[in-house]
Amino acid sequence: MRARIRGTILHYELGGPKGAPLVTLVHGFPFSRALWKGQLPALKRRFRVLTYDLRGLGSSGLGEAPQLMESYAEDLLSLLDWVGERRTAVAGLSMGGYVALRALQKAPERFWALGLCDTRADADPDAAKLGRAAGVALLRKRGVGPFVDGMLPKLLAPQTLKRRPAVAKALRTMMLRSREDGAVNALVAMVSRMDSSSLLPQLRIPVLCLVGQHDAITPPALARGMARAAPKAKCVVLKGAGHVSNLERPAEFNRALMGFLEKARP
Ligand code: MLT
Repeated sequence: MRARIRGTILHYELGGPKGAPLVTLVHGFPFSRALWKGQLPALKRRFRVLTYDLRGLGSSGLGEAPQLMESYAEDLLSLLDWVGERRTAVAGLSMGGYVALRALQKAPERFWALGLCDTRADADPDAAKLGRAAGVALLRKRGVGPFVDGMLPKLLAPQTLKRRPAVAKALRTMMLRSREDGAVNALVAMVSRMDSSSLLPQLRIPVLCLVGQHDAITPPALARGMARAAPKAKCVVLKGAGHVSNLERPAEFNRALMGFLEKARP
């Protein structure tokens, strides 16, 4: 399905029982809503579920660049309006978590639970800023392929890379569908995003911090720190998973997310 949002088209899917509480899943970078394929059947049995492609990624248009983290957060709120839903639980993986945190800061009344999956609340440290600059240069000079091949080994746990080539292949295929402009835009939005750490102690809704044991990009210490900072939070570390924990350990990820959402259900 398509939504006309702020000068472009966002592609989304909405399913699950009508009238059930809504759960919105926000994918990471440079992925698409296809990231959530392994979560949809389980979630849709009990919840209405909204997934979409962030602007400039997957099938969604970019609109007029630059689009900053603020724009991605506004898109999420506008998409809720488009589908006629006032409130949702939101679970964001990595960049999806940055989007969710900013949207929640802007409109806390629209969210009944928060899943922070393999993500962080603070802004980019300096080393990460330099990494983003190198990423933009690589994308512009050599295109999406070399960028993806440089990033892929950091995204998955060593055992996933070694023993589960099909998982790495599926992720690589999804990443290769990204367009250069959309990927550059997302890097600029991430490098310029604000620090959302001060939001965590103010959260009145239940929070689940989910993280892969071997997440090299947003390691478990960050998830534990976020769970300590939010009053109604818990942290679950998924054994054997890396940064894309929902893809690497779908059954364990779904069990943790579903258990959390059932308990938080409005
Ligand atoms: C992601 O998975 O969304 C990215 O790795 C996030 C980031 O680079 O900060």
